[in-house]
Amino acid sequence: MKELLARLCETFGPSGREEKVRELIKNEIEGHVDEVKIDVMGNLIAKKGKGGKKIMVAAHMDEIGVAVSHIDEKGFIRFGPVGGVFPTIPLGERVEFEGGAKGVVSIEKLYKEKDLALEKMFIDIGASSKEEAEKMVKIGEIGCFTRNAEDLGKRFVAKALDDRVGCLVLIEAIKRTRELPNEVYFVFTTQEEVGLRGARTSAFGVSPDLALAVDVTGTGDTPEGMKMAVELGKGAAIKVKDRGMIVDKRIKDKLIDVAEKNNIPYQLEVLEFGSTDGAVIQLTKEGVITGAISIPARYIHTPSEMCDMDDVEACVKLLCAFLEAEHTL
Ligand code: CO
Ligand code: ZN
Repeated sequence: MKELLARLCETFGPSGREEKVRELIKNEIEGHVDEVKIDVMGNLIAKKGKGGKKIMVAAHMDEIGVAVSHIDEKGFIRFGPVGGVFPTIPLGERVEFEGGAKGVVSIEKLYKEKDLALEKMFIDIGASSKEEAEKMVKIGEIGCFTRNAEDLGKRFVAKALDDRVGCLVLIEAIKRTRELPNEVYFVFTTQEEVGLRGARTSAFGVSPDLALAVDVTGTGDTPEGMKMAVELGKGAAIKVKDRGMIVDKRIKDKLIDVAEKNNIPYQLEVLEFGSTDGAVIQLTKEGVITGAISIPARYIHTPSEMCDMDDVEACVKLLCAFLEAEHTL
């Protein structure tokens, strides 16, 4: 799993520019699903199984990034965020743009803490004039941070674990399950980081009876960290609530039941910030019974996000068992 996870994370795919990630996933799942399609918003929708309930499982392909907003006379790039880029993160980081240009992020003067704002930062792509820079990037070009994945044994570090590790969980579930007794739509969504946008249209198109979002969640186990019960290595997190949704009690209880029956380690998640694709899927049409399985992760929205492979395995097992179960909800 680690080898595929590294490839998924290292692939370029900021919001709205998910093509390369989609291609990789499509190649991985072909032959393991009954049907694959790509919708208008770029969501990759793979169908597997028949009978039972219509279940949508969503994981987003996009990652946070930057967009070129201005190029100055000396060829320095100003940028805006694509998704939740916290100003404490980009300094000294490397970025890569869709056209292939690479650069480093720095800031005006030697920064004082109060100056730490994206507006004060720029990207140096190695150009020495505006003309030169304009040959390398265009206004509006979108980029993302670059980092190699690192295998730390049980733990794994990479950029874009949010949410390529969720994509991995779906891919593994597709590969490990045989014929499914439910009509399952595995949806690899676009533009989650800028407002859960791909999930909105794909959920309308699929119109499921039940849905699960699979995404990362924060943990409370780092020094002076958040007061949060979720810890790395303690199993799959079954979401109870976050800022965008209260999980349907029936699906939360079903996930707990499935985990207990199959001896899958799990923990309950109450997330005080952020949300997932589940928030908009739940509000589709007349409403959809929606829950979420979360992969605990540290340092979310930095180029060095960390997860524990045992938790990933637990999430895969929980998802497989849920999809293989009979649902009477
Ligand atoms: Co995110
Ligand atoms: Zn995410």
